[in-house]
Amino acid sequence: FGIKKIANSTHKIKKIGHRGAAGYCPENTFPSYDRALEMGADYLEIDVQLSKDGKLVVIHDTLVDRTSDHKGKVSDYTFDELKKMDAGSWFSPKFRGARIPSFEEVLDAYADRVGLLVELKKPSLYPGIEDLIAKELKKRNLHLKGKDHIIVQSFETESIKKFHELLPEVPVGILINYPPDKIEIKEIAKYASYVNPKWTVVNKRVINLIHSNGMKAVSWTVRSKREAEKLKHYPLDGIVADYLDLIE
Ligand code: G3P
Ligand code: CA
Repeated sequence: FGIKKIANSTHKIKKIGHRGAAGYCPENTFPSYDRALEMGADYLEIDVQLSKDGKLVVIHDTLVDRTSDHKGKVSDYTFDELKKMDAGSWFSPKFRGARIPSFEEVLDAYADRVGLLVELKKPSLYPGIEDLIAKELKKRNLHLKGKDHIIVQSFETESIKKFHELLPEVPVGILINYPPDKIEIKEIAKYASYVNPKWTVVNKRVINLIHSNGMKAVSWTVRSKREAEKLKHYPLDGIVADYLDLIE
């Protein structure tokens, strides 16, 4: 009897919970992160911005309107004011009282249990946010954990370049929502370890281009069976999903 060789047996596509388990719980809250862990997430994806008084907070939109019981810009509220908001009831009364987490709280509660894909959300609105993120990671020695345990990504290349210079031990990625060309990918490869394409722009050419330039590709965001079905056919390194059970 010969031993059957399993092709690609070491290549496991990482399962990344989008804002936690955004399909099931209010996004970017502890209940959402806990649910993602229960569902077997390898990583939690989180969005980081700054409060009026310069604290790192985890919330997706630049306005609090959609995901809280208040209105206005995240940057017009102090940390204490943001902390008093109800970030759960908009999703379901069951989650009433869920809070907007600080970046520090997320690191302290989750960084030793699961990988973190940290998105700098509109960092050009928040000068200095890169230094603050680097400081919190260093304080906890998370930059030395290796194995891509922490990944920092953004749509904004300047911010990611800056972060990479500050803390080169932490791999960085660029988010793209259009088909990239060769020149652009080669430029990104000078500093980044990931190019993370929206599911609509994933095809053989794009994934080959990313991989052949020595980077990894994490696609986002699976919200339906159709999207999960499409991504199954590509050698991705990770998939970000609202419903992690779709990428089982
Ligand atoms: O991780 C990628 C994805 O989260 C980017 O889009 O708008 O959901 O932050 P968005
Ligand atoms: Ca995000």
